[in-house]
Amino acid sequence: MNDLLPGDSAIWQYVENTIKSILQRYAYQEIRFPIMESTDLFKRSIGEVTDIVEKEMYTFEDRNGDSLTLRPEGTACCVRACEEHGLLYNQTQRLWYMGPMFRHERPQKGRYRQFHQVGVEAFGMEGPDIDAEILLLSARILRELGAADFVTLQINSIGDAASRNSYKAALVAHLEAHKDQLDEDSQRRLTTNPMRILDSKEASTQALLNNAPVLWDYLDEASRAHFEQLKILLDAAGIKYEVNQRLVRGLDYYGKTAFEWVTDKLGAQSTVCGGGRYDGLVEQLGGRATPAVGFGMGLERLVLLLQEVQAIPEGINQIADIYLVAVGDVQKEALHLAELLRNEIPNLRLINNCGGGNFKNQLKKADKSTAKVALILGEDEVQKSVVAVKFLREDQPQQIIASSEIIKFLKNLV
Ligand code: HAM
Repeated sequence: MNDLLPGDSAIWQYVENTIKSILQRYAYQEIRFPIMESTDLFKRSIGEVTDIVEKEMYTFEDRNGDSLTLRPEGTACCVRACEEHGLLYNQTQRLWYMGPMFRHERPQKGRYRQFHQVGVEAFGMEGPDIDAEILLLSARILRELGAADFVTLQINSIGDAASRNSYKAALVAHLEAHKDQLDEDSQRRLTTNPMRILDSKEASTQALLNNAPVLWDYLDEASRAHFEQLKILLDAAGIKYEVNQRLVRGLDYYGKTAFEWVTDKLGAQSTVCGGGRYDGLVEQLGGRATPAVGFGMGLERLVLLLQEVQAIPEGINQIADIYLVAVGDVQKEALHLAELLRNEIPNLRLINNCGGGNFKNQLKKADKSTAKVALILGEDEVQKSVVAVKFLREDQPQQIIASSEIIKFLKNLV
């Protein structure tokens, strides 16, 4: 679990604000839900035999003896909240959330125990057009942040429950015969969650899979048609993708479309964004059958990627435009000038020197502050109703400006 220090928070704010503005342009609305839910909600939605539920949840008993879990993901919480407040009754919803998620994984670069996601969920729309819309939305986020050249979209269809079941049986039958060649994790998954074996990074397992049955051959007609139409829509929209028949997701609620944005810039933790369709989940959690599709984008991975490919805009760590140096008995006048400037110049970022210090000392702070300009106010300036302006980053002579002119002068400057 990480602290976010002031030197990095500007990057996070830039990323979050860019994403929020894009979500607004697609008219998605924010939903907020608690950071913990009843444990049962995650067991029922993510699935009892997934890594998340088996090994990774932060679960505890509260004072009433109720079992609660820090949310490992947002989709289940979002469905719970929508159902509880009747948001899915005879209507569509386009929603987003942003915040911390918790998984007790082995930490490494790009993988943390508290991490942050932006999640997008669209409810009540059955056709592949909404799948395409959220893929376009995710593509735009990556493009506008400058990551487009470093990510690849992989898509797959994992069919309906019946087709997955017959595929699972065929896959298990094939792999059982070569069980000793499977890695340890995959051997265990053979009985618990065989489709996750397709995801294995082990070379020997991947080699075995080359001759294994292919999910596509077991896919139901509706899923096939949905996937074909999605590809047509993505082609028409100019979105590049790869079909990856081994892409299955780590959560049980998916069916039909599954996708991931992956990068080769982050080592092992290569998935920046993952999602898909989960038409069965609302009903499974007690609501009326409601088609749904969404994604989760990992913000740590996104920030790491932008840093790695140097896509962070310059000047992002500049926190102030002006530093007000106040020497001598002028605290009252300095506070007054600072407030006046904040009133009159919207968006002006101004630091007023507090805590005293001599001229040299304050100027040093001004220099460190990232401000472009220092305003200097001493007893002499107050008496003459002027302010001295010193340029901190440019080779320009100091100027003396009448107090009555200072707003106009600074408006032109910042
Ligand atoms: P997920 O694939 O488990 O899906 O997570 C989505 C993204 O969260 C990942 O692609 C990754 O970028 C990030 N992520 C996951 N675990 C960690 C971690 N330990 N450290 C850092 N980043 C991580 C979901 O959570 C689904 N709820 C997505 C979804 C929404 N599907 C439909 N709607």
